[in-house]
Amino acid sequence: MWEEKGKANTPEGVKPKKLEPKIRTVNIEDDRLPPSYMPASPGTDIIARKGFVGNHEFLKGPRKGDPLSELERFADFPPPVSTNIVEKLITKVKEFGGQPFPQCVTFTLWATDNVNTYGKSMAQVFALIGVRLVKDSVDEVELIPLEELGRPRIDVVVSCSGVFRDLFMNQMTLMDQAVKMVAEAKEAPQMNYVRKHAFQITQELNDLTLREGATRVFSNAAGSYSANISAWVKSNEWESEIQLQRQFLARKCYAFNSDKPGMMEYKGEVFKAALRNSDVTVQNLDLNDILSITDVPHYYDSDPTKVIESLRFDGKRPICLLATYSKAGEDVHTLSETIRIDSMSKILSPVYYERILRQNDDGVKEISNCLRNMLGWAVTSGNVDSVLFEIASGIFMEDKDMVKQLREKDNRSFRNLLATFVKAGEQGYWETSDAKIRRLRELKKFAESSFE
Ligand code: BEZ
Ligand code: MG
Repeated sequence: MWEEKGKANTPEGVKPKKLEPKIRTVNIEDDRLPPSYMPASPGTDIIARKGFVGNHEFLKGPRKGDPLSELERFADFPPPVSTNIVEKLITKVKEFGGQPFPQCVTFTLWATDNVNTYGKSMAQVFALIGVRLVKDSVDEVELIPLEELGRPRIDVVVSCSGVFRDLFMNQMTLMDQAVKMVAEAKEAPQMNYVRKHAFQITQELNDLTLREGATRVFSNAAGSYSANISAWVKSNEWESEIQLQRQFLARKCYAFNSDKPGMMEYKGEVFKAALRNSDVTVQNLDLNDILSITDVPHYYDSDPTKVIESLRFDGKRPICLLATYSKAGEDVHTLSETIRIDSMSKILSPVYYERILRQNDDGVKEISNCLRNMLGWAVTSGNVDSVLFEIASGIFMEDKDMVKQLREKDNRSFRNLLATFVKAGEQGYWETSDAKIRRLRELKKFAESSFE
């Protein structure tokens, strides 16, 4: 179906194979094919790949054995430090956490970012635990010797989206095999945190083998998708974070086991025990230039930061990082700085909100959604500075002309915006005066009583 033709460049010099379709002769009498049939293609990174024109290739599934080009790159580990996102991640942890190496990193893995980046986030998992693909293989991994790795093997928890589970069963197998292989490597616990934690978990929970104690690849149960925290945040009807954290744990605790492939098994206790060791959370954002983290609710929905904080014996909040891919290249940022930059350059910037209110029919809705997504991040990660809500209320709630404009343009979204401010204040994410919250509650009542 596909043949290799030339090479495509990505910013960091990776040269994935360029795949172009061979001409396919389709018998138009063949009524099994829809008239607009197009052969599936490998996905692509629309930011990094030069000369890409948006067409059906974007977001298409992987071929058999894909996406592995990033993993193949790690066969030549260590890659140059400046382009290695894992090195950047470790450096950030040193900067913000003070420790030379994290002991465990929890990843949120999405299907889209792995399709588009040829498996970059999966490659991070393999690099942290210190394994690489066996040369010329796509489904076999080997340990990178500790002397070559030059640091401890860092433990991981891999929290996969439901879409990832559906698309990447082969890669889940490979990750699970790799983690278990690392746990079984007879190395000193201070140089192999996977093994250290696997033993610790077998002691914490009865009747587990070492391989079971090294269960690290999780997702939803078959047929289920997302943690669904955003449904509660949207409704404003949730009471406490604990309720939402329980839901996250209950939905995302199904483990993939390469020793028993083909099913997702409930592993609530191991999931909690593994998350508890985590001192960093990471999510990869491949569409950073197009969709920001406050544009849609899906990003915060799958964030495990506060879940881990509540599970850790020392109650410490993990450092929350985002790996981003943009025109400027790849980088690692803290979530809090990303939210600050994102909101200050969008809904808190007059250039932005004046334009969308002037030009877009759904401008009020956009502002309301964005603030609600900021609230969502505050709920799941705790990384949203209270001052951002204060600035937002100054812009949208304290100027009479602005209030009138929002109400008249879209009263329903205006009510949602008010509800978000009230919830942020009531739950303590926005530290403000009681008088301000009282006034917003009254305004909300008034907006609810008026016609749409
Ligand atoms: C995914 O690609 O895995 C994904 C896409 C949208 C929402 C959640 C997950
Ligand atoms: Mg999902």
